[in-house]
Amino acid sequence: MGSLLTVLLCLVAAYTIIVPSVNDAHTKRSVERAETVIAPKVFILSMFGSERDIWADIPEFDLYAQNVTVPGFSPLFPDAHCTKDGSICELVTGEAEINAAATMMSLLHSPMFDLRQTYFLIAGVAGASPKLATTGSVTFARFAVQVTLQYEIDGREIPSNLPTGYFPQGVKPPDLFVFPPVLYGTEVFEVNDNLRQLAYEFAKTATLNDTVAAQTYRANYGNVSEFAPGASPPSVVLCDTATSDTFWSGTLLAEAFENTTTLFTNGTGVYCSAQQEDNATLEVLVRGAISGLVDFSRVIIMRTVSNFDRPFSGQTAVESRFANHGGFASALLNIHLAGVKVIQGILNEWESVFEDGVRPDNYIGDVFGSLGGQPSFGPGSIFNDQQALTARSLRKRGVNIGQ
Ligand SMILES: *[C@@H]1O[C@H](CO)[C@@H](O)[C@H](O)[C@H]1NC(C)=O
Ligand SMILES: *[C@@H]1O[C@H](CO)[C@@H](O)[C@H](O)[C@H]1NC(C)=O
Ligand SMILES: *[C@@H]1O[C@H](CO)[C@@H](O)[C@H](O)[C@H]1NC(C)=O
Ligand SMILES: *[C@@H]1O[C@H](CO)[C@@H](O)[C@H](O)[C@H]1NC(C)=O
Ligand SMILES: *[C@@H]1O[C@H](CO)[C@@H](O)[C@H](O)[C@H]1NC(C)=O
Ligand SMILES: *[C@@H]1O[C@H](CO)[C@@H](O)[C@H](O)[C@H]1NC(C)=O
Repeated sequence: MGSLLTVLLCLVAAYTIIVPSVNDAHTKRSVERAETVIAPKVFILSMFGSERDIWADIPEFDLYAQNVTVPGFSPLFPDAHCTKDGSICELVTGEAEINAAATMMSLLHSPMFDLRQTYFLIAGVAGASPKLATTGSVTFARFAVQVTLQYEIDGREIPSNLPTGYFPQGVKPPDLFVFPPVLYGTEVFEVNDNLRQLAYEFAKTATLNDTVAAQTYRANYGNVSEFAPGASPPSVVLCDTATSDTFWSGTLLAEAFENTTTLFTNGTGVYCSAQQEDNATLEVLVRGAISGLVDFSRVIIMRTVSNFDRPFSGQTAVESRFANHGGFASALLNIHLAGVKVIQGILNEWESVFEDGVRPDNYIGDVFGSLGGQPSFGPGSIFNDQQALTARSLRKRGVNIGQ
């Protein structure tokens, strides 16, 4: 309790109130409506209740000091939770892509928050490839790929000369596995790699949890050499994440989506984790960045591993799907153990490093180039390397886009 108080006092002392220098008419109206505006330095994004609860009763900070009900949040998770000084907040998106997008859009347009300097820490569990990680591992992604945004035919109707029933949208035989000719814009997101490296270094200072249940199950992967990481103790890993509403399992889908990740990221992405929200969250953050509400260079995708995406040798896909992989408890614990190092790292070096932002050297944004620059994947920016126009800049040009 004493140490909690000390940490809280330090946070209060270190906290400088960011007075919003509001220049957007819409934002200004919104801010005037809110009684107090919270400007968090870090916003933790959880996807369901267990991922939220891991942050309760921790020694480092008290996220339940302020509960802020945000219109538009999931009816199951109506509140954002913040420390007393507002420097750290947390929300629960609700699971899968639709919930994630709806909740995040509500947050970005809430007059109760100023998010322009906020670091977003996606902090949830995921399935993972035994080729790169194991239960309890902590992964940090540079790419998030929406792997099921594709054509699909049922597995029983796949012709014998094709390896999978998934094909990028817009392809025509015989070229079925090329970068999708038809793009919705959410197929691939790339986040700030320099920030990712810093988060990775912070997280590596954590002592990760592991359990006997996880150790026992992962030992099954030990007799296949390419699954050596799956059979090893958990660690912190740099590798990329795949989003889909479907909670899929099995060797063939896993290999198909490894290929999709490679294809959609032009060979740069390394698939290792699978989850149901991140591309939706990232799409909202890209749109928010276009509108000047958030800074897309301040996004960290951290996924800890609760289960394997495919069976071990000798196990069927169905057996794998319904087996207890023994990793859920340590995956949840490691969200806190590794995540708190990232959060403390950001707060401790706020003035010297993070307040002004960590400049990315890689392309950041979506496949359309909406935030400016040239994506390193896909057909190139559709905005001539410039940022997509905001409502405000369109109005300035006299384009009538309504209110
Ligand atoms: C915030 O909500 C949590 C649980 O929902 C509760 O335990 C806590 O007391 C609330 N905090 C305040 C300040 O009301
Ligand atoms: C999902 O996001 C990742 C990066 O975060 C990006 O690489 C990927 O292309 C996105 N996928 C889709 C289908 O939008
Ligand atoms: C992991 O957490 C569990 C539950 O708190 C605990 O029993 C176990 O000792 C921990 N293991 C390690 C290696 O920290
Ligand atoms: C690997 O071990 C599993 C059980 O842990 C067994 O079912 C399987 O047959 C073994 N595979 C090989 C190739 O030895
Ligand atoms: C993945 O790509 C490799 C190399 O192109 C190919 O041999 C394999 O059949 C593909 N696997 C699936 C399941 O699509
Ligand atoms: C994709 O990779 C190839 C080969 O490395 C490269 O020539 C091409 O420019 C890349 N595409 C983009 C959009 O960067």
